[in-house]
Amino acid sequence: MSSIKVIEYKGDKKVLVKLIEELQDYLVKVDPLKRRIRLPEYGEIYIDNLLKEISENNGIIYIAEFKNTPVGMIAGIIEEFTKNDEIEYISSKPAKVLELIVSEKNRGKNIGKLLMDKMEEYFKTKECDIIQVKVFEPNKDAHGFYKKLGYQDRFIDMIKESK
Ligand SMILES: CC(C)(COP(=O)(O)OP(=O)(O)OC[C@H]1O[C@@H](n2cnc3c(N)ncnc32)[C@H](O)[C@@H]1OP(=O)(O)O)[C@@H](O)C(=O)NCCC(=O)NCCS
Repeated sequence: MSSIKVIEYKGDKKVLVKLIEELQDYLVKVDPLKRRIRLPEYGEIYIDNLLKEISENNGIIYIAEFKNTPVGMIAGIIEEFTKNDEIEYISSKPAKVLELIVSEKNRGKNIGKLLMDKMEEYFKTKECDIIQVKVFEPNKDAHGFYKKLGYQDRFIDMIKESK
């Protein structure tokens, strides 16, 4: 789709709320343990927290638009390399993708890749040397997508229900 525009988010919070709710609904659906939920206030609160995190960490949000309609978003921040990091990792300027979502009927049209390319360009301008992203393990599609873009598994979070 060549008429996709990727622009910096400038303040229509409703757009972000709608997209993040779609992402959470998807994660609820793929959760085999059925521990994820979405309360009615989820979107508003989540996006307020996200915007705060973005503004406090030199972050940015991009929106993908098709014919002036939002069809996806990506959010990323620059992470701090701390004194504690210094004792166990080589010196680094890490970045993190916090959220990425392409609305369901627009997936598979290269929009996710366009958003990632734009975010990676931003991180380059900030001289970041690594980019991190967390993936919910049951979300096989996102895992496959990131692998396709050159990301590799680094940590594995595990869980056991204790009854
Ligand atoms: C994951 C997601 C962002 C991908 O976006 P998309 O627009 O559908 O993906 P694209 O069309 O840009 O795909 C880019 C490339 O990745 C490949 N790809 C996409 N999904 C893939 C998968 N599951 N496994 C392997 N490769 C995949 C595509 O084939 C394409 O490769 P190509 O350029 O060689 O054709 C989208 O599916 C999505 O929003 N999913 C739900 C929300 C979500 O899971 N977000 C991530 C939270 S961590």
